[in-house]
Amino acid sequence: MRVKDPDIKYLFEPQAIAVIGASHNPNKIGYRIVANILNGEYPGQVYPINPKGGEILGLRVYQSIEEITEEIDVAVIAIPAKIVFEAVKKCAKNGVKFAVIITSGFSEIGNTEEENKLVAYAREHNMRILGPNIFGIYSNKASLNATFGPSDIPPGNIAIISQSGALGIALIGKTKAANMGLSAIISVGNKSDLAEEELLEYLVSDERTKAIMMYIEGIKDGETLDTTLQMATKKKPIVVVKSGRSKRGAIAAASHTGSLAGADEIFSDIMTQCGVLRAESIQEALNWCQVLSTSPLPAGDNCVIITNGGGIGVLATDACEKYGVPLYNDIETMQNIFTEVVPDFGSVKNPIDITGQATFQDYGRTLKAALSSEAIHSIICLGCEVAGFDPELFSTTIETLFSAHKLDKPMVFSFVGGPKIEESIYCLKARGIPIFINVYEAVSTFGALYAHHRNLREYAETGARTSIIEQEIESGTINDILNQVKQKNRQFLLAYEAKELMQAAKIPMPVSSIAQNLDEVVKAARKIGYPVVMKVVSKDIIHKSDVGGVALDLENTDEVIDAYQAIIQNCRSHMPNAIIEGVEVAEMVQVGIETIIGARRDQTFGPIVAFGLGGIYVEVMKDVSFRALPIDRKEAIAMVKQIKSYPLLLGVRGEPQKDIGSVVDTILKLGAILERCESISDIEINPLMVYAQGKGVKAVDVRILLST
Ligand code: ACO
Repeated sequence: MRVKDPDIKYLFEPQAIAVIGASHNPNKIGYRIVANILNGEYPGQVYPINPKGGEILGLRVYQSIEEITEEIDVAVIAIPAKIVFEAVKKCAKNGVKFAVIITSGFSEIGNTEEENKLVAYAREHNMRILGPNIFGIYSNKASLNATFGPSDIPPGNIAIISQSGALGIALIGKTKAANMGLSAIISVGNKSDLAEEELLEYLVSDERTKAIMMYIEGIKDGETLDTTLQMATKKKPIVVVKSGRSKRGAIAAASHTGSLAGADEIFSDIMTQCGVLRAESIQEALNWCQVLSTSPLPAGDNCVIITNGGGIGVLATDACEKYGVPLYNDIETMQNIFTEVVPDFGSVKNPIDITGQATFQDYGRTLKAALSSEAIHSIICLGCEVAGFDPELFSTTIETLFSAHKLDKPMVFSFVGGPKIEESIYCLKARGIPIFINVYEAVSTFGALYAHHRNLREYAETGARTSIIEQEIESGTINDILNQVKQKNRQFLLAYEAKELMQAAKIPMPVSSIAQNLDEVVKAARKIGYPVVMKVVSKDIIHKSDVGGVALDLENTDEVIDAYQAIIQNCRSHMPNAIIEGVEVAEMVQVGIETIIGARRDQTFGPIVAFGLGGIYVEVMKDVSFRALPIDRKEAIAMVKQIKSYPLLLGVRGEPQKDIGSVVDTILKLGAILERCESISDIEINPLMVYAQGKGVKAVDVRILLST
């Protein structure tokens, strides 16, 4: 038995492989796997295992893995679920490093106990498990096709990790149809042990892999995935398609591979934070991977559109805005570059319109002008089939130009036309040229390329994500408050405790004090200044308004006296057994923009922060951005800018801009509190009232929960 976990390299580059359940029947999965391994010309040792013995495809069949004395790196297991555990035990005892369990019938159908048993045994013996409920693994580097999918997987530069087996097999076919080769494809199924994280570690260092696509249904360990992705995306572009966006989809995903989909909005924001490119569909992800794995990165932000039609040019301009593709704006430079090649009645403003009468020679000249100018960093070349459009000439022009210049700068093409043009586009695409019938599809690939480029640029400028260090919060005081609450066996903070905690974090709250009698109430109100609000203080009364324990907008002493008496009387009559500790007198908070800031330990991703439009409509508007901690100031600013209601903070209809800096400070402070105070599970300010620039923010209501 080994004393430590095996290197993931052995899963992708095994020297010897056993197939447990190698069948004599060509229609069975166990036979298919052996056949695929042999067809793929795997150079290592292959050991088919079947108690019946005999021979399969010319190989000696061993009756048990125990008969094999040589070292085995990978054992593929394709026998019924009820006998898998015995096989796992034998593998582990025989020193197998990785068990690739094809078999279904575990946690995805509720048989979690059996699955956990396999993993526990394997881990105890330092064997790792891929699956169960998978189609296997293909690794180009090892010429290994240990799947029961297609036997001829074209080699290439794209790696795929798929949680769905059937979809993964279909993807092998689909990438082949699009002439996109694979460096690896791994089915992770129930992710009982190995998940995306460890596979990514290998793939980012594999020189054959240029882009990675992941199909995810649920996440087992979001915190580790987050950490891995942060680093992985700095080395290779990673595209993710995640299902389970809708409620029904999430339920379907849970029953498919037995893992929780998690809140989709949180997933999306955290993927973006990690630099992962989230595609809407499988097709979009494949388009992106094709471009990301072959195109050079743009040297800068100056993208030009070259077109023979105004309409398609406008469509592409819209698409550029949607996908974040930066269009070149320097009209003077563009005039210098294109005047010679664009007819007088065309346009040298971006989009460069060479007009409907443009010939393919005109296309060639314009593209070459753009390619040879250092001011231009990427090209979107479009066209509509017009009279005299020769599909053959069209194909040869695009292919010749692309082949000659594909390494110079990013280029993408989109043409609209009849069947001959569509046929040509299909053929060109199959020859590796990024050309699309749909303009939006073409531009979206550039959106991915630019997003990856920005991600690398930002990383080069700012480095890895760091902890929040700039916020000064008195962690000692905060932990003292929390310890006192814990000693009282309470899992939430009372209003005055939350207020003390906010003070220690230097987050402003409305001025207030607790009064025990009428005299103190009057004095407190005078000191704070009218108008004031009053709230009963009692740990027995949670919903204060419901029992008449709250009075708002009290303008003078008389109103304060009446309100005090009414509050005490209401509470005594509604809840006669409640212990009333006093009444809180507080300043009446002025109206501002109501926002919400929360920090909590998410089930999937661990500590996260949220910011959004607050108040009573928060549930309806759902205008919230999320980030995994730690975050720095730049990321907190990005969170604020991300919400749809951001213009409200900039000031609308002549209103002054709001104090965005204080909002950002508060986000960072809540993040810092959660990071430094282990016992807090959830902290939420709603509303955080935001005032004009320089006037700060006020945390009107704060809710703090402790971990159980
Ligand atoms: N060790 C080795 N071989 C054994 C053992 C053992 N202990 N016990 C039995 N075998 C042999 C059998 O004799 C048989 O060989 P034979 O055909 O020569 O007699 C072979 O192993 C297979 O066993 P069967 O009982 O015939 O099992 P079968 O092939 O019908 O099913 C399978 C096994 C494929 C693993 C099935 O249980 C299963 O889980 N199918 C679903 C697989 C799947 O879909 N995976 C999920 C993802 S991929 C996707 O979704 C498309």
